[in-house]
Amino acid sequence: MPDAPSAHASGHLRIGGDLDVHRLGFGAMRITGPGIWGAPADKAAALATLRAARDFNVTLIDTADSYGPFVSEDLIAEALYPYEGQVIATKGGLTRHGPNIWKPVGRPEYLRQCVLMSLRRLKVERIDLWQLHRIDPAVPRDEQFGVMAAMQKEGLIRHLGLSEVKVEEIEAASKHFTVATVQNEYNLITRKSEAVLDHCARQNIGFIPWYPLAAGNLAKPGSSLSTIAGRLGATPSQVALAWVLKRAPVMLPIPGTSKPDHLAENVAAAALTLLDADFAALDEQARAAAGPA
Ligand SMILES: NC(=O)c1ccc[n+]([C@@H]2O[C@H](COP(=O)([O-])OP(=O)(O)OC[C@H]3O[C@@H](n4cnc5c(N)ncnc54)[C@H](OP(=O)(O)O)[C@@H]3O)[C@@H](O)[C@H]2O)c1
Repeated sequence: MPDAPSAHASGHLRIGGDLDVHRLGFGAMRITGPGIWGAPADKAAALATLRAARDFNVTLIDTADSYGPFVSEDLIAEALYPYEGQVIATKGGLTRHGPNIWKPVGRPEYLRQCVLMSLRRLKVERIDLWQLHRIDPAVPRDEQFGVMAAMQKEGLIRHLGLSEVKVEEIEAASKHFTVATVQNEYNLITRKSEAVLDHCARQNIGFIPWYPLAAGNLAKPGSSLSTIAGRLGATPSQVALAWVLKRAPVMLPIPGTSKPDHLAENVAAAALTLLDADFAALDEQARAAAGPA
């Protein structure tokens, strides 16, 4: 029987300089119902996926209070508490009113409620990494950053992060607290956050790309992604993940799945070694497919 895959092969990053994780993590958004709403269709599979993540040495689990809402955090606590060696990163600041509906609310008292309730659901006294899911445009951003800094000072949160932000917003938040991570959509074919990624790499800020598996048309049979995958005995999405991991040492991809066998396939990508020439060819092809920035 082949060895179990291990996220150890993806290397390490110290989030905020002191929170050590294997770079390949797990995104726990897909363990809820359709539209990221309600309970999963197969709760046993969701719990098994979370436990498999632990068995595969995945030490960074990403979630949010809004996944379900609350379902993902509750399942994480049920499957993994007391989280030996695992970092549970959560988010707040998005409210839910139905499947696929996400509304930002950044009023400081609401953000405080998000953190207090995540602490309760995750059964911890301090959240390792709390990320503002979206900056609410209806609330002065300094008020949102201010309450985040205050909760960190109070000891409710160890490290703070942001999601879907521009460089200028990272710099504005940095006046209030050390930005430990940034979570933006990023994958081989979605490259609108290149400048943010470069900023994070320069500042040693962990960059958490969401939707990291996407490869779109690049994955079609006969494409160079498929050819490289065939040569490596891998799938196109594994190569897409290996490409993201190779793009920058601060990269912390969190592929999401509700199925243990898909998780095993994704974690196995940590051990794939992409040649520099293959990395460059995929980069060039993906940029060309995306068109002018
Ligand atoms: N900050 C934000 O605004 C934001 C937004 C979206 C997501 N996120 C976070 O980022 C994480 C990842 O993003 P994502 O879940 O949207 O995208 P993703 O990880 O790139 O893709 C997930 C999708 O791919 C499927 N999949 C996963 N592994 C597979 C495999 N080996 N073979 C075939 N299909 C596979 C999953 O379905 P199955 O369940 O069937 O495997 C799911 O539909 C989320 O879980 C969440 O934690 C953050």
